[in-house]
Amino acid sequence: MFSHIHKSLAAISRRSIVKGSVALAGVSALGLATRSVHSQTAPRVRMDIATFAQDANRLARFEAAVKQMQDASAANPDDPAGWLVNANMHRDFCSLDTADPAQIHFCWWFLAWHRAYISVTERKIRQISGDDSFTYPYWNWSSDRLIPEAYARQGSPLANAVRFARSSPPGLTDGEVGYRPDDPVLKKLGVVGLGSKSFEAKTRGDIRFSFGGIARPNPGNAFGNNAIEGTPHGPVHNYVGGGGDMSDFETAARDPIFFAHHGNLDRLWETWRAVPGHKATEPQVDAFKQHSFVFQWLDGAPIEVPMSDILDTTKLGYTYDYTDVFRPNEPLVIAQQAVPDHLPPINSQSLSIPLTPQGADDGSRKYLEITGVAAPETLLTVSVHLKAANAPPSDTGIEVGTFAAVKNGGKIVWPSDTLVFDITDAVKRFGGQETTVLLIPQRIGSAPDQKFAPLKYDKMQIISRQP
Ligand code: C2O
Repeated sequence: MFSHIHKSLAAISRRSIVKGSVALAGVSALGLATRSVHSQTAPRVRMDIATFAQDANRLARFEAAVKQMQDASAANPDDPAGWLVNANMHRDFCSLDTADPAQIHFCWWFLAWHRAYISVTERKIRQISGDDSFTYPYWNWSSDRLIPEAYARQGSPLANAVRFARSSPPGLTDGEVGYRPDDPVLKKLGVVGLGSKSFEAKTRGDIRFSFGGIARPNPGNAFGNNAIEGTPHGPVHNYVGGGGDMSDFETAARDPIFFAHHGNLDRLWETWRAVPGHKATEPQVDAFKQHSFVFQWLDGAPIEVPMSDILDTTKLGYTYDYTDVFRPNEPLVIAQQAVPDHLPPINSQSLSIPLTPQGADDGSRKYLEITGVAAPETLLTVSVHLKAANAPPSDTGIEVGTFAAVKNGGKIVWPSDTLVFDITDAVKRFGGQETTVLLIPQRIGSAPDQKFAPLKYDKMQIISRQP
């Protein structure tokens, strides 16, 4: 039964990829379907869960609707009105081979597809709850390094998922949320990926520097994580799942916090777009702007969400309560020091940084590039550190980034053999010195003694790029 749904949805999607903008028979556009019910209503405000949960009745209506969907799935896993069928739409587009044309990760569909998916889920809950003002509350993990109470409370339908979130130490680290307090420029941004200047990656090598990823299809069938898809997207999945639902694309969307995590990424897309010049770099070609995605509605009918709606959240019927990275007017409470509990590095390599501190100030940014990286064997979140070679072993230096290997149907998914980390600030500190690069694994979930094999790679080097 699942395989039936799987095939039909994937087939519909492939057809729409092939035919571009051709409308599918019997498919109603999300915008149109809703306009006929609520004409001309103002967009609703999507809230930080911290605000959303202040209204106990609002939270109770949300919980009751999710519970109703979960109960429907418990009674009949194939019930199109159920939570599982909704979650499986993610499996059908995300738990595919990286090279599968229907795969919406690792390319320019990443932000767009998840935006549409959150909207469809949000509309379902709005309909089931009868709360016409409902919007799916997001989790601002830059401000709240712990899973928010509303998504964590024992017995809540919103916490009804398989989770082994790391409990000791408890919170997401700076590296996992893409926050670089040591770097004056990146610190201002709050999430490193927001520094990307361009939405679309034009070459394979640009994917990690881009905000939105590379075209799909593209000539070499290149794929890889865009800037925020790498971090914080992947590490947050691993942090919550710890080997459970969220750490595997096949099961991730069963966890109600999935939509809160992606809601925050979606919000950060709006944050990025608000910077002058950024939005203009979003692809203007029909292959992007005229595309549409197909989902399944509560009655089982396909529902189409066109890019023309996706590229304007007000057409999807929402705006965000704030677009600052950190929650405004609140002091930032960093949950953790950067390296949680000093697991032994899985790799260390000495690298001489050939630059004087002055040379580092030529306006370019410097990156540590690790090429030929083989897929790790286990679920893995690794933070990358630079330290002076003569510093004592207990010194872990500066954390320059984090990357994560998540699973996809039980197997590690590793979209690219190249990892890149901005080390501009570290170069200013260490320029001209012998430096050691440490790859330090973070604990995944609550397992007490995880062992991580060294990462296999070909080469580490420092590259320089104009911003
Ligand atoms: Cu489609 Cu965060 O995964």
